[in-house]
Amino acid sequence: MTLESGGFFSYDLGSCKKLFNLECDVKPVRLAILGLGTVGGGALKLLKENAAEIKRRTGREIEITHVGTRRPRPDLDLPESVKQSADLMDIVRQPDVDVVVEVMGGIHPAYEVIMEAMKHGKHIVTANKALLAEHGNELFKAAEDNAVQIAYEAAVAGGIPIIKVIREGLAANKIEWLAGIINGTGNFILSEMREKGRAFEDVLKEAQELGYAEADPTFDVEGIDAAHKLTILASCAFGIPLQFDKVFTEGIGKVTAQDVKYAEDLGFRIKHLGIARRTDAGIELRVHPTLIPDDQLIANVNGVKNAVLVQANAVGPTLYYGAGAGAGPTASAVVADVVDIVRDIIYTEDGAGTIPQLAFEALSDLPILSREQMTTGYYIRINAEDQMGVLADVTTILSRAGISIDAIMQQPRLSKDLIPIVILTDPVKESKMDAALSQIQALPVIHGEIVRIRLESLDN
Ligand code: HSE
Repeated sequence: MTLESGGFFSYDLGSCKKLFNLECDVKPVRLAILGLGTVGGGALKLLKENAAEIKRRTGREIEITHVGTRRPRPDLDLPESVKQSADLMDIVRQPDVDVVVEVMGGIHPAYEVIMEAMKHGKHIVTANKALLAEHGNELFKAAEDNAVQIAYEAAVAGGIPIIKVIREGLAANKIEWLAGIINGTGNFILSEMREKGRAFEDVLKEAQELGYAEADPTFDVEGIDAAHKLTILASCAFGIPLQFDKVFTEGIGKVTAQDVKYAEDLGFRIKHLGIARRTDAGIELRVHPTLIPDDQLIANVNGVKNAVLVQANAVGPTLYYGAGAGAGPTASAVVADVVDIVRDIIYTEDGAGTIPQLAFEALSDLPILSREQMTTGYYIRINAEDQMGVLADVTTILSRAGISIDAIMQQPRLSKDLIPIVILTDPVKESKMDAALSQIQALPVIHGEIVRIRLESLDN
């Protein structure tokens, strides 16, 4: 501790004891890490590798006292002092644990274990987006009741500190919308298919080997993982309860090379986006493949990278980019949360932190819109018989429905009698588009199912 001119103290806990011969509270902060998979292993490695730098940031030693795992990992070379057990409930009740780092994923037993840990006064760091999106309201309430905090930076967009950005960096703003590539596996698959013409299954297998994919990869492919993350982002952006069950979700499974090519010819890329938008009628929460202009920075985010574009009323648009999955990036977010909690333990009375868990002290009950109430532009592809008047029939239906066409393109014939027609529309309410498309689908000259992919300009 040093006395600076003007009479302010600056703290240096290391020298505090020496200078004043005081018994300062410099006990290490003790962690239990539950789960030694990609993220748990990455966090342990990072805490070891960067121990000196982290101590310099916090002024406090961080000690791992317990590891909860069913499959010990000798490769991690844990000190003998670390107690390893598969009994997670027992670990979180131990007195030599201040913070529980839950990185095992899945809803059960993570939910029960975290609840028990909080009852015993432990702070929580978790990367578990599924758990928070589906049970976060109860968990945050229990955290408040027990005066502990749940930190969850690693739950969304891997290594990008997007939760900190939204909860703290943009706190002066009213956030209007955000749109993000928030599933690294999905973006990796779409990028490899587009750039290298690789097969879907082959790229997915590689994503699993690289530790990007969820234990159940259908979560990545069907957009569920992105919907979990969008749920969390939207709550922090708009100050609303977590409402995963209201997210409209469509995966990447139906995106074809043909549509990727046609979109590119029209100056667009197809990205799998999570979009949360505040409208006068309520909030849109949607996850789906989306055409976006190829000159948008976010259109050029490829591979396992994530990016989140946030439109806020004072600052305007800001874009956050980085690795969305993998051991190092996710561990970076986990350990940053540990550092925050260590600081809170040192500098606040109960260590429960000063920032509201979902960014707002008062949550709002803004309604979430149904899919039919949402408004978006569209890419439509129709396979039609090559006959006079087909285009006129289709455009008449659209114009009668009040749908404005932005571009129309007849593609080279694919089979002997069928021509693909691609139409881009201005934004329109989905219910109107549903009605128009069912009329078009019913025309006898239309073959196969009409393809529709949503389109966003992302410019306001
Ligand atoms: N499966 C997730 C992804 C991991 O690919 O983005 C990171 O949350």
